[in-house]
Amino acid sequence: MEEIERAGDFEALDAARSTVFGRKSRLTEIRRGLAEAPPDVKPVLGKALGEANRRVETACDARRAVLDLAREAEMLERERLDLTLPGRRMRHGHRHVITRVIREMCDVFLSMGYRVASGPEVETEWYNFEALNIPAWHPARSEMDTLYVDTSGTDGTGADRVPDATEATLLRTHTSPVQVRLMESTQPPLYHVMPGRVFRNETQDATHSAQFHQVEGLVVDSDVTFGDMAGTIEHFCHEYFGPGYDIRLFPDFFPFTEPSAGLEVWWEDKWLEIAGLGMVDPNVLRNVGFDPETWQGFAFGFGVERVAMLRYGIDDIRTFYNNDVRFLEQFV
Ligand code: DAH
Repeated sequence: MEEIERAGDFEALDAARSTVFGRKSRLTEIRRGLAEAPPDVKPVLGKALGEANRRVETACDARRAVLDLAREAEMLERERLDLTLPGRRMRHGHRHVITRVIREMCDVFLSMGYRVASGPEVETEWYNFEALNIPAWHPARSEMDTLYVDTSGTDGTGADRVPDATEATLLRTHTSPVQVRLMESTQPPLYHVMPGRVFRNETQDATHSAQFHQVEGLVVDSDVTFGDMAGTIEHFCHEYFGPGYDIRLFPDFFPFTEPSAGLEVWWEDKWLEIAGLGMVDPNVLRNVGFDPETWQGFAFGFGVERVAMLRYGIDDIRTFYNNDVRFLEQFV
């Protein structure tokens, strides 16, 4: 009994128990002799043996319970959860700097009451060129710049595509076709910005990319003047860049605006062009069925990457697309 009560672990307890009940133990020896015991002693001896058995088992159970508790306490201690440890934070992603700049630019126009519209990235020649008064001979239409989409082939799944017999399709070279779609679907007055991705057959370098982004703008209303346009652009620049920037308009040419201008911002030691703009050409208004005597408008197209480079002092357009998190993380 003493051995049982002193057992420090389950092994020692088992050993103590076999000492008592094992084949060579005193109790076993006595039980074996029970058959030969005189009849008057037998019941007393049997009862005493049973009692001894019970006491040993009870002691073993008690000891086992104590050891169980101790083991559990030890386990709890060993596997203790430190609830005061700081958690492991999930790393959240964030918007790409180009998306962020687009949103911030649109926000400035939204604050002036503009709405946001969008159009398809695959366009027809009509929307991308013709409707915008861009004639067939215009250099922008040549295969040098435009990525045409061949819809006559198969789509790679083996199924024949429906050939577009009527018109050539292309990856839009600018967001200006959204102007046309907007004017077709919505009656003036129009005050809209149209952000999106555009594509040109360019060789990549520090300032050129085959795909980039523009924020287009279109206003169509009665009595819209060049002064309204200049004031709007000036207000945008002030809101977006802050007061420290110098801007200027210079004369330029676009087939869909007359007169046309370019917007430049003074950056480091030179003027950097960030947008084209102008008064909507009457031919464009006529193309969508608007009477130029009733409606006038102005339009603009910002190069988003240019704006972002200017705003954040980035000197290589390729860093926007390399997906190097060390670069991207700077613009959370
Ligand atoms: N679409 C022109 C381009 O990609 C930019 C542009 C110029 C847009 C004048 C306009 C505009 O809306 O009025 O080069």
